[in-house]
Amino acid sequence: MKTTDIICRTETYTYAELSEPVRLLVDMAKKATERAYAPYSRFSVGAAIALDNGEIVTGSNQENVAYPSGLCAERTACFYAHSRFPEARFEAVAIAARGTDGKFTSEPTAPCGACRQALLEYEMLAGHDVRIYLAAADKVVALPSVKSTLPLAFTDF
Ligand code: THU
Repeated sequence: MKTTDIICRTETYTYAELSEPVRLLVDMAKKATERAYAPYSRFSVGAAIALDNGEIVTGSNQENVAYPSGLCAERTACFYAHSRFPEARFEAVAIAARGTDGKFTSEPTAPCGACRQALLEYEMLAGHDVRIYLAAADKVVALPSVKSTLPLAFTDF
């Protein structure tokens, strides 16, 4: 029997420690929370994706009265990004969320499992790691890749 540990390393930054491009990406994810349509959960999520063509595509969660018909911010953003710019490759993703009090969450919001799987597709297409920046009110947690958030991912059939 062999034991293998799968480690997900995170880095926590203050806002001031972020590079200019990352700060812009985080700001755009935060701004995108304002465009969430979340009348049911009142939890507003924004995602921003930096593409290698210089574009930044944003998305927000879009809920529906038939609850499962709604979509998370991350998938709204990545599906739009790849349908709008099919030739572009993902460089980095930022995610931010505001709770029912309207304030940015004190702890970062990580993408749900379905969004990790969807984002992984575009990381594989890019052929390199796509860093994920999870923005909270006073800090940003960086994850080295989508793959690191989805150990034992389904990647082929
Ligand atoms: N949500 C996202 O947009 N992204 C996530 O990663 C987690 C959850 C949305 C779905 C729903 O509209 C609301 O947050 C509450 O679950």
